[in-house]
Amino acid sequence: MSHADDHAGTRRDFLYYTTAGAGAVVTGAAVWPLVDQMNPSADVQALASIFIDVSAIEVGTQLTVKWRGKPVFVRRRSQEEIDMARAVPLNALVDDKAENANLPASAPATDENRTLDEAGEWLLMIGVCTHLGCVPIGNMSGDFGGWFCPCHGSHYDSAGRIRKGPAPRNLDIPVAKFVDETTILVG
Ligand code: FES
Repeated sequence: MSHADDHAGTRRDFLYYTTAGAGAVVTGAAVWPLVDQMNPSADVQALASIFIDVSAIEVGTQLTVKWRGKPVFVRRRSQEEIDMARAVPLNALVDDKAENANLPASAPATDENRTLDEAGEWLLMIGVCTHLGCVPIGNMSGDFGGWFCPCHGSHYDSAGRIRKGPAPRNLDIPVAKFVDETTILVG
């Protein structure tokens, strides 16, 4: 191998790794399917469960990923959002059930029953309006500092609970948990 060939090979490798690195930065919080190479039904599993890397999500921002064909909102709430949600009495809610697949169906819609962690920083929900299925707008939108659905005017609070408008239920929370400090498994 000539010196020039050797150099080209080195440069190619360098470019490859640089591209991979840049991709990771651009995507920020990556999402990838759970695939067991040894399992014949790996494609089915890939649809059923995903890992979400939340390490790049800043406080007060939201990441939207796709899971089972639906948007999933992963919001890292600010203290203001947490305080607003926890100050709401249950009798002010349209839907007083947590709508959280990780809890019994009868669990009340307290803020604590909606979040992934005890401190209430992490809120993960299906991003589909419970009225007719539009995707609500986030970033402390609407009259209650949470999400607003522009289709017919449903307002959700900072815990994703319906507060005003035609939607009948709180935004649904799927089966999800932290598997380490920065990774959430959904499904
Ligand atoms: S679909 Fe959201 S308010 Fe109708």
